[in-house]
Amino acid sequence: MKHLISFGLLGVLFSSGVAYAGPTSPIVERGKALYGQYCGSCHGPGGTGDGVVAESLKVKPADLTQIAARRDGAYNDREIAEIIDGRLLTKVHGGREMPVWGDYLGEGPGRANSQNKDLRTIHRIAALNAYLKSIQQPAKPAPAATP
Ligand code: HEC
Repeated sequence: MKHLISFGLLGVLFSSGVAYAGPTSPIVERGKALYGQYCGSCHGPGGTGDGVVAESLKVKPADLTQIAARRDGAYNDREIAEIIDGRLLTKVHGGREMPVWGDYLGEGPGRANSQNKDLRTIHRIAALNAYLKSIQQPAKPAPAATP
């Protein structure tokens, strides 16, 4: 019985990672709420990099509607998950302007063992990925040169 439950959970995780979620699916809504809570202050309400604290940062927050456009139209869930999590990347590249979300996204009610935390982090990053995919836009034209 226990196994059935965990397989069911894996199924949900797997399908949410693979299927391209529609704009109103529950996982996108969940990701949108998490985005508002953790990301909008820097990346802006619509993801375009114009959040309230963006001004005071040394490095401008990325325009998150252009993730795919910056990569020739490809959105790689795993790559973006690693950027958001950050725990792996900072070890390799040293510091970065963006917080290491992997340290925070596992926090929440319930038993606080590391397995629960990791599972929660995976779920939340999957939801953030689903939301970010739903807001991808075609490449924006380069800003016109000022005369
Ligand atoms: C403190 C400000 C800040 C917050 C909050 C923040 N970011 Fe960022 N983010 C940045 C900055 C600055 C960059 C540019 C790269 C760098 O130097 O870290 C960035 C880059 C990114 C990138 C890389 C984009 C690309 O195309 O390579 C992704 C994805 C991203 N952020 C997602 C998120 C998500 C999801 C959240 C919320 C969980 C979040 N960010 C919260 C500042 C922030």
